[in-house]
Amino acid sequence: MYHPELFKGKTALVSGGRSGIGYGIAKQFLELGATVLICSRKEEPLIKAAETLGTIGPCYYEVCDIRKTSDIELLAKKTRQELGGLDILVNNAGGQFPAPAELISENGWAAVINNNLNGTFYMSQIMAKEFFIPEKSGIIVNIIANMHRGFPGMAHTGAARAGVENLTKSLAQEWAMYNIRVNSIAPGTIQSSGLDQYPKEIQSQFEAARKENLMGRFGAIEDIANAVSFFSCPLSSYISGTTLYVDGLEHLAGDRNGLIRTLRSMI
Ligand SMILES: NC(=O)c1ccc[n+]([C@@H]2O[C@H](COP(=O)([O-])OP(=O)(O)OC[C@H]3O[C@@H](n4cnc5c(N)ncnc54)[C@H](OP(=O)(O)O)[C@@H]3O)[C@@H](O)[C@H]2O)c1
Repeated sequence: MYHPELFKGKTALVSGGRSGIGYGIAKQFLELGATVLICSRKEEPLIKAAETLGTIGPCYYEVCDIRKTSDIELLAKKTRQELGGLDILVNNAGGQFPAPAELISENGWAAVINNNLNGTFYMSQIMAKEFFIPEKSGIIVNIIANMHRGFPGMAHTGAARAGVENLTKSLAQEWAMYNIRVNSIAPGTIQSSGLDQYPKEIQSQFEAARKENLMGRFGAIEDIANAVSFFSCPLSSYISGTTLYVDGLEHLAGDRNGLIRTLRSMI
């Protein structure tokens, strides 16, 4: 639907681009003419993804744990080396596990906050200092989650993503003077590899939620990729500091407590 050369001459870095939503975002960038670098922790699937994506357009990869600033510094070097610069950063990498709040350990809490909040900040700060601020140009798109009404059953990720939503507003204002736009996308339940990791009881709960969804479906990976492309191109040139819910109305309607009820029934 976008012009096939929308991102011709542009470079994009997608964290977590080896699977699911990140893979779909990288794929759409390539289809629209961008040069792309994907990063994640697991080398083997990362290489495979880069090879497959490479059949569409130039796709590079780098192993990187977004929780480690030393990894991100190396990622910035690789980005400079392979892409020559950076126009668009998509902070998509993340992960969490379902648990009632009273059972989340100190380590579990720290791991989720570190991955989903700190990792996004480290990536944004390092890439802004290396590329966007000196160039006085840049676009950051953060993939967060639907935590508009809280996130019962995943309190840690709800808190981390709310942190990223607020960070989006701060960075957008601080960095507007450098012509950097920062926006977030809050996906609802998206049919992607991320859902496969949950136990079958929770999969059944997701299925019940799907039937309840006012649009009668889960989101597709392309729904998120389409929104990322919008925030990454001049169609959104006067939009910064916002969060776009791509969730079939989940942030407004539907039962937010199905997950926590299911978790309690499993204990
Ligand atoms: N699917 C949904 O319904 C949904 C809804 C709301 C939000 N989200 C969020 O959207 C994003 C993508 O989700 P998905 O469904 O596509 O899940 P996914 O397939 O599990 O993707 C997560 C990606 O992030 C990478 N990753 C995780 N931790 C990382 C780290 N510390 N450093 C670098 N890479 C890391 C993973 O690769 P490695 O394992 O190789 O590191 C993987 O490629 C996630 O942030 C997810 O929480 C998903």
